[in-house]
Amino acid sequence: MTQYTVGYLVGSLAKASINRKLAEALVRLAPEELVLKEIPFRDLPIYSYDYDADFPPVARAFKESLATVDAVLFVTPEYNRSIPGGLKNAIDWASRPYGKNSFARKPSATIGTSPGKIGTAVCQQHLKSILSFCNSPMMNSIEAYIQFTPGLISDQGEITDPAVEEFLRNYLDELYGFICRVYTALESTATFQPHNVSQPSTMSTRH
Ligand code: FNR
Repeated sequence: MTQYTVGYLVGSLAKASINRKLAEALVRLAPEELVLKEIPFRDLPIYSYDYDADFPPVARAFKESLATVDAVLFVTPEYNRSIPGGLKNAIDWASRPYGKNSFARKPSATIGTSPGKIGTAVCQQHLKSILSFCNSPMMNSIEAYIQFTPGLISDQGEITDPAVEEFLRNYLDELYGFICRVYTALESTATFQPHNVSQPSTMSTRH
């Protein structure tokens, strides 16, 4: 059995965050092949490239945490049909400085909960677009938009609806399979130098 470490980012900074509750439930439900650990980001200042020459300790620690995990899971609410600003700020920090993008080739996935019926669907599409640019292979399926109803997750992090619990277990199994496939296809540190291919001047080499 290969075990993978998944660092999760909770997109909400709210004390009573329902997405934090969901993350805690996922920690409880995770199969033994997945070790979930939180990567906090609330203390990051607002990113500016003025920091690139010398990242502050909190940003270095954040990037070091990302470097230690095999995959990243975003457990995030949808704010105004997109991702919360704090999470976008954290992603911007992780993606820099230029050439040291923490997400490059690192598998990722997203899940979220909202009281709304389609809650987090649009947010997740935005997140996929951002992580695509950051060169992270992201799990496409299964998608997980969890409608939060009162009492769905107990204070102890237990899911009270068996159908939702089964769905989340299946989601985590899919996530494990996805991470396995990414690393079976290619080691994360592998690099390719194409032979005899001249690069057009318009080609981006951002990562
Ligand atoms: C929301 N909420 C929300 N819900 C949704 O489904 N789609 C949305 O676009 C938004 N937009 C939005 C913006 C802002 C600024 C707030 C504060 C809230 C409602 C949101 O789903 C609800 O507050 C959840 O409790 C947020 O999850 P956390 O922060 O509790 O994990």
